[in-house]
Amino acid sequence: MPASSPEDYILGYSQSEAERLDAQHMVCRRVNGDHAISPLLQTAVAAGEIKRVLDLGCGTGIWCHEAANELKASGIPTVTAVGLDIAQNDHWTKFASLDFKDLSSTIIFGLADLNDDVQMMAILEKYGGTFDLVHAANLVSAVKKGKWPTLLERVFKLVRPGGYIQFAEFDTMDIYSNCIDPVGGEMLAIFHSAYNSLGLDVLCATEMAKRLANAGFSKISDNTLQIEPAWRDSKGVIQIDRVAVEWLVGMFRILRPLFLQVRQRPDYATLLETLPQWVHERTPGQKVEQLLVTEEQYDDAVRHAVELVTSTSEIHHVDPLLHVIVAQRPS
Ligand SMILES: C[S@@+](CC[C@H](N)C(=O)[O-])C[C@H]1O[C@@H](n2cnc3c(N)ncnc32)[C@H](O)[C@@H]1O
Repeated sequence: MPASSPEDYILGYSQSEAERLDAQHMVCRRVNGDHAISPLLQTAVAAGEIKRVLDLGCGTGIWCHEAANELKASGIPTVTAVGLDIAQNDHWTKFASLDFKDLSSTIIFGLADLNDDVQMMAILEKYGGTFDLVHAANLVSAVKKGKWPTLLERVFKLVRPGGYIQFAEFDTMDIYSNCIDPVGGEMLAIFHSAYNSLGLDVLCATEMAKRLANAGFSKISDNTLQIEPAWRDSKGVIQIDRVAVEWLVGMFRILRPLFLQVRQRPDYATLLETLPQWVHERTPGQKVEQLLVTEEQYDDAVRHAVELVTSTSEIHHVDPLLHVIVAQRPS
């Protein structure tokens, strides 16, 4: 029995989810100086130190393609990019046929359950110590809280001595407390209850640096990058980043069933009681009975949030915070 199965994965595999993931990737790349590989690793890239990369939980595979193209563009003659995910993704072949026909370089996609000990041991046997860079992004919905330490120990073994890792996760506290005023408190509480009850770790972004240190990584750099869906240009006119808005709307859409299901659970009140104190501190005056109850209320809340985010008369700060954490395996 695998430790997880694609059916367990809460965000699913629809076409709209693939589009949301690619929009999310574009948003993340933009704040990363338009790089798939962090600017903090560009010295290593320029020195030719990064030739083999691995993306864990690779989704549509977009990062593998972009990272490989970036490395090729920097003059690396032969690049290997490996993407692993628990589910086969139609986009793996779509991307492969679009670009990267250069036979001196390889992009390989394969199936792997990051939570499965047997599969991960086999991957370590095949690939241990061979990667110059291991990347993982947006796995908050995929990796159970108790599995993070073991996963990071395995990542440590996958990277060659002196090699690098790059993890990217959103600070979920920030997304749900800032972006959907005035219902941010409700959304935050429900989101946290849902993820907690599924054994997922809503704090994985802010815990990552500590966990990487525990796994043996050094030179850990935890960078917080603010995504700004709306900003004022030099003439003071509000500009809206449509890709960021598309991503935010997609996030509300994909989380809708989860929000509604968790609200129906008989143990919902108990789940809320188990929320950390800081959630209650960020939602002053909110009582359990004030939380969202119907589909209509969820949809109204989302509509209101989208109106705020796309307002061109005033900026309502959403600005989700992306943690990009870069570290090195000691030589
Ligand atoms: C939110 S998506 C992120 C995809 C990609 N990293 C990105 O940033 O676009 C999470 C991915 O984790 C994968 N996933 C979920 N559970 C997994 C598991 N146990 N092992 C490996 N991958 C898993 C899903 O199939 C999905 O592609």
